[in-house]
Amino acid sequence: MPAAPATRTYQIAAIPADGVGAEVVAAGRAVLDALAAGSNGAFALAWTEFPWGCGYYEKTGRMMAEDALAVLQPFDAIYFGAVGWPTVPDHVSLWGLRLTIAQNFDQWANVRPVHFHPGVLSPLRKADGTRLDWVVVRENSEGEYAGLGGRNLSGRGPGNEVAVQTVLFTEKGCERIIRFAFELARARPVRKVSSVTKSNAQQYAMVLWDETFARVAQDYPDVTTEAVLVDAMAAKFVLKPEDLSVVVASNLMADILSDLGSALAGSLGLAASANYNPERRFPSMFEPVHGSAPDIAGQGIANPIGAILSGALMLDHLGLHEEATRLHKAVDATTGSGVLTRDIGGTAGTSQVVAAIIENLAP
Ligand SMILES: NC(=O)c1ccc[n+]([C@@H]2O[C@H](COP(=O)([O-])OP(=O)(O)OC[C@H]3O[C@@H](n4cnc5c(N)ncnc54)[C@H](O)[C@@H]3O)[C@@H](O)[C@H]2O)c1
Repeated sequence: MPAAPATRTYQIAAIPADGVGAEVVAAGRAVLDALAAGSNGAFALAWTEFPWGCGYYEKTGRMMAEDALAVLQPFDAIYFGAVGWPTVPDHVSLWGLRLTIAQNFDQWANVRPVHFHPGVLSPLRKADGTRLDWVVVRENSEGEYAGLGGRNLSGRGPGNEVAVQTVLFTEKGCERIIRFAFELARARPVRKVSSVTKSNAQQYAMVLWDETFARVAQDYPDVTTEAVLVDAMAAKFVLKPEDLSVVVASNLMADILSDLGSALAGSLGLAASANYNPERRFPSMFEPVHGSAPDIAGQGIANPIGAILSGALMLDHLGLHEEATRLHKAVDATTGSGVLTRDIGGTAGTSQVVAAIIENLAP
């Protein structure tokens, strides 16, 4: 009798953090564990959960442990919830946890698919009859989130303070994310990359991006391209989304556009994302696009699909492609059968959606 293949166990660091982050990470873990349990020993996930976030900050004055980066480094991947709570200023919580991990682990490519699910009503009328599916690729290491600047002159008295926030665009940073977008486009049914800037108004940094895009595009003659200003792209998301395949943009612009995309697909609660360190020098991080949603936290009604599909992106990253596809199918079967949370017009709670997805994982 042939020996059963050895189970490959992946070490995953879970950081649920705040608000609905804890609920959707628990939901995602339950679904991923069910998938692993049904994999006939093909893979297993060994979870280590970290208590970092705003509650940790209130006790310790830090958003995460001092040696957190060294602790996280050996993991195969990080599964993140959401950070932020009204008791801690948002810039403190975001910089103290999520941005510190993303920047120090050089997770420079943030991929945010916009996926339209069966059974979920989109505010776009044309979504009923048109196949819509695109992905936002966000530069995740510099741009408007480089953290450069300062506040000064408060000594001049009230009303006279000055703040400077500088964007940082490097040719290397632009080139690597633009190349990433082209490579992704080559793996999609429609080979097209739309580059987004505001280079008419921002004549230095964004012109460098535009020029880099034009140069890199020459290496991909099989991929169609367009360069669109961000205001026009916001309109295009609504009016001509069938024209999109891969949309690549700076840190801030892609952040805003991907929220618009997920709202068009039905809810912020549906959107998944991956923060990749493509060179695999550091673990990549998988998280829903949404925040900690203090307005609905603790009620058991958060939509877990964004977190669960972030788990599918994690499986793909670990090389478990068939398992990722199975998970996508189970989610679509669940929405298609009308098991929906309130944000997408249903009445189901988080746990009912999780139970339905697990049931739909069965072959
Ligand atoms: N990646 C992150 O960790 C991240 C991202 C965005 C915001 N935040 C933080 O989250 C906190 C709240 O920010 P916000 O209100 O601007 O954005 P948010 O994404 O938390 O909420 C925006 C709206 O979407 C709804 N929503 C979000 N997730 C949902 C889900 N899973 N199911 C159903 N509805 C959902 C909320 O109820 C709310 O009405 C802030 O502290 C902010 O800094 C964190």
